[in-house]
Amino acid sequence: MSFPPFNYVLLSKHLLHKGEDMKRLRLAVLISGSGTNLQSLLDRSQDGRLAADVVVVISDNFYAQGLLRASAAKIPAYVVNYKTHHQEAKYSGSIIALDSLDQTQRILKQPDKALRLQKLAGLVRAEKALIDILDPYELDYICLAGFTRLVSPYFINHYNSKSEHRIINIHPAMLPSFPGLHGYEDTLAYGCRWGGVTVHFVDSGEDTGPIIAQSIYPIWRTDDVDSIRKRGLQLEYELYAQCINWLAEGKVEILSGGPFRTSTLINDEDYPQILKNWVDLAFSK
Ligand code: GAR
Repeated sequence: MSFPPFNYVLLSKHLLHKGEDMKRLRLAVLISGSGTNLQSLLDRSQDGRLAADVVVVISDNFYAQGLLRASAAKIPAYVVNYKTHHQEAKYSGSIIALDSLDQTQRILKQPDKALRLQKLAGLVRAEKALIDILDPYELDYICLAGFTRLVSPYFINHYNSKSEHRIINIHPAMLPSFPGLHGYEDTLAYGCRWGGVTVHFVDSGEDTGPIIAQSIYPIWRTDDVDSIRKRGLQLEYELYAQCINWLAEGKVEILSGGPFRTSTLINDEDYPQILKNWVDLAFSK
């Protein structure tokens, strides 16, 4: 795997000087597809650039290539079949009362309440299956990495409290622009001159949670979706690992100030240099 030497030195400095008292985080990684972000986390965990261990992987897709990556790294991997859970909800109903959940959820937009509740019931069943797998692993964070399912407040409230956010996501666009499943396509189709990638905590909306870090890459006239995805993914790997290291170092402060949107603050004296490294990386690809 290639990475820019300057970034390696910077992260090594953190690990060498602060390694002794730095807690290694226990992570779950949730995937749906190729799992290159998962691979980057596995590689970095192995070679010391990540202060965390991936202890479990779950996919909603039996054919996800990321499952092979987990198995090659000898990490326990599971599949939760959402289709089965939706089917069970259709015939057997919900496992919990759904009314208050429906009032707080912001992901299911069906105006028909019966249909919406049925969808929510299936989601909750699938999420209960996720939780049953995840909890015995005593996790610090759940990292969504190309996981294409929306998560409901049932799942989120199980892991989050007012002061603690434990689910993070990597998104291939400069949020709040272009939420959803097609970040690179939407960025290019809009005619943006810059694209971005975002790591954020997950809340009850679609890609609306508090942002931890963002960076940008230039879009050139010769680019197509494949070339910007390639450029963006290199950034994704750097950002995700850096954010996890900041969490391990206790450098991510959550500001939940009354009427204001919950946001974060990174307490790292190297922050400006790290940001510059990301932009340099984007120009080098
Ligand atoms: C990544 O680009 C990630 O940001 C994106 O899926 C891709 C997964 O790639 N996630 C989303 O679009 C979530 N809304 P990977 O499987 O190779 O890591």
